[in-house]
Amino acid sequence: MATRYRRFRDISTSERILDSLFLLTIGLGYLFALTHLYFTHSSRDGQPGLSVDDVMIAYYGSHDHSRLGAAINGPMEPNLSSKADKLVILKWLQDGKNEEEYRQKIQPILERDCLTCHRPTINESIPDLSNFEAVLEVTDANGASLPALVKVSHIHLFGIAFAENLGNGAPAK
Ligand code: HEC
Repeated sequence: MATRYRRFRDISTSERILDSLFLLTIGLGYLFALTHLYFTHSSRDGQPGLSVDDVMIAYYGSHDHSRLGAAINGPMEPNLSSKADKLVILKWLQDGKNEEEYRQKIQPILERDCLTCHRPTINESIPDLSNFEAVLEVTDANGASLPALVKVSHIHLFGIAFAENLGNGAPAK
């Protein structure tokens, strides 16, 4: 006779209990992960509710390997006069750093909020943000190394379901 998949009704009661508890635990973890995601990251894109953009901004943004992404998610954030502009810059980084979009959207933000410090005539020791090529130099994602990816995945696999805001340095606002 051909082998038949074992069905739930074929197994013993103790095995049923074990399987049910396993699924229940995973299900609970998933629910908590969703709840966590919702309360921590909804509205990051400026729209109410949770969307794919929120998740992209939260996780790509906070683990952005580019110096620009890290800076505006961290110490340089207070220099932005509008919080919405941070999302504009992060989206531009994600979408491939198009030069035309840079001129339309990014350059005006940098000129207004960053060039008071970030131009070679003022301070040579910090990145020049006064032109496209110079800005690109701080946008290179250096590509995470395999050990770094393993570490981040390890932290996240445990962290997303169980921990509060793990791995995300910036508090949700
Ligand atoms: C008041 C002056 C000042 C303003 C305004 C300013 N920065 Fe900075 N920035 C600094 C200084 C000083 C450093 C170097 C020290 C540091 O890394 O904290 C720096 C470092 C950086 C770096 C490099 C971080 C690294 O990886 O080493 C980036 C990128 C950056 N700033 C982006 C920005 C952006 C984008 C803005 C505008 C929203 C901005 N900064 C506004 C002073 C400023």
